[in-house]
Amino acid sequence: MKRYARIALLIMLAAGLWLALKPTLGSPRIPFLPFRWSEYFDLMDFWLNLGAFGILGTTVWLAFGALEKAFSRMWLMTGFITLLNILLELMQSSIPGRAMDKADVWAGLFGCVGGIVVGMVLQLLSIRKKTGHKEPQVLFLDQTGRLGGAELMLLDIAAARAADSEVILFQDGEFRTALENVGVKTSVLELGDEASTVDKQAGLKRVLRSIPGILQLMLRIVQAARSFDVVYANTAKALIIGGPAARLAGRPLIFHLHDIIADGHFSLLNQQALIHCANFCAQSVIANSEATKAAFIACGGRAELCVVIPNGFRIPTERSPASEVKALRAGLGIPSDAWTVLMAGRLAHWKGQHVLLEALKVLPAAHAVLLGDALFTDEDRKYAQELHTQADAPELAGRIHFAGFQKETMAYFDMADVVVHASVYPEPFGRVIVEGMLAGKPVIASRAGGAAEIVQHEETGLLVDPGSASELADALKRLQGDSRFAMELSRQAQQTAQDIYALSAVQEKIESVIRQTASRVFRKESETAETQTIQQAA
Ligand code: UDP
Ligand code: GLC
Repeated sequence: MKRYARIALLIMLAAGLWLALKPTLGSPRIPFLPFRWSEYFDLMDFWLNLGAFGILGTTVWLAFGALEKAFSRMWLMTGFITLLNILLELMQSSIPGRAMDKADVWAGLFGCVGGIVVGMVLQLLSIRKKTGHKEPQVLFLDQTGRLGGAELMLLDIAAARAADSEVILFQDGEFRTALENVGVKTSVLELGDEASTVDKQAGLKRVLRSIPGILQLMLRIVQAARSFDVVYANTAKALIIGGPAARLAGRPLIFHLHDIIADGHFSLLNQQALIHCANFCAQSVIANSEATKAAFIACGGRAELCVVIPNGFRIPTERSPASEVKALRAGLGIPSDAWTVLMAGRLAHWKGQHVLLEALKVLPAAHAVLLGDALFTDEDRKYAQELHTQADAPELAGRIHFAGFQKETMAYFDMADVVVHASVYPEPFGRVIVEGMLAGKPVIASRAGGAAEIVQHEETGLLVDPGSASELADALKRLQGDSRFAMELSRQAQQTAQDIYALSAVQEKIESVIRQTASRVFRKESETAETQTIQQAA
């Protein structure tokens, strides 16, 4: 393609020169053309210039353009062609009776930008290749380098199919290290500063400013995606960028929906962007709970795309040794006999750590460990500071222990007497709830979203109204005062969690979605090929 583009470029350059210098054609040395011939075509001049420079831009792009750093290349090419255009105009102005024509310069500029964009699109369309591996090759995309619940789920999925997968992260961090440690090929394609600060609540202005960074990354993903059978977007930004990229590369897209798309979690603009992008770009949507699926559909998402698959967990065969648990308590400064509540998860207002602290004011002997850190936004970091201030209140002083983010969490669950989940908005799924159940601890969770699907009230845990510190305090007192009930709840919870959330079963379900999504497209391609063969034979 490049060879033809280069030949065409030579022809186009010659045509451009001819157009620019054509007034000389009216000179008496070419008698069969009328004198000052160009004057009759002044309007046409603009369109001819536009068209010529459009073709020139396309050809230049196809001959020398690459999607890597596409935008800087585009400005460079535009600048160069415009400079050439101006030089030609200056040359013309030295011809007697001929002034420099600004309209021609504009026409050249518009034409060449349009042409270069056409060149890019042609290049994108020409790179739809097949990969030809036995297992579907999957390109996973995730926006963060931190280890949130969605990333921990992806870590397990990608680890199980490391030979046939690659991960692209839009930010570096401990997630990359964790993926590489389990043998998953991982690369980081950073989003520009503007785009990486756009969060779930961002308004129009911030979204618009982020567009150049997003387009740049999108083009790089188009290039990467053509070596894979399926693109798998694991987060909201991964969908917004990976969705159109997968379409341009001609690859099917799976969107793993870990979020509840509704007010409180996303601004209206972001809700609409996500739904339209999923509807238009995704062949499958894996929702992590019935609640996330329902919110997706309520917001306008296509129901037929959705399948519900919960998170999966390794069922530990052994728990932490007593000596480790004892040392951990001592290290945190918790008296060995103190009744202790664990709340695990990132520090963020909607996760409701403040609700637990409020509830603990009326349980004077109880201690609490907050395991986790503010992972994603400045707002979360501010909230973390507020929690420290709240914990310094005289009624709580010395009883709230901030453990920070820990990679190994099992001993924290093992040292707790009860595990609390207190999200004030519906929790999409809630890994920490299942982890508490698997640890054989009684769990209290907020009655909403995925949490209310995981916990059966009074059977496998207790449910309380989201945001209600008094209900939470009552539930805590009940478990503290009735250890037999607490034990019975945790026994049933552990059994249920082992039955429903085993990682191997969940991985198999996800693998089946990957195979179906890939084969749907293969089927379409082979059907087209068959039809072509039949038509040729006929
Ligand atoms: N987690 C962790 N280290 C910490 C705190 C939390 O590894 O210090 C893990 C926790 O065990 C759980 C995940 O982070 O697996 C949080 O997932 P969840 O679904 O509860 O909430 P998310 O933060 O994803 O909304
Ligand atoms: C998201 C959700 C959380 C869920 C996790 C894994 O981070 O906020 O509720 O458990 O993804 O699906």
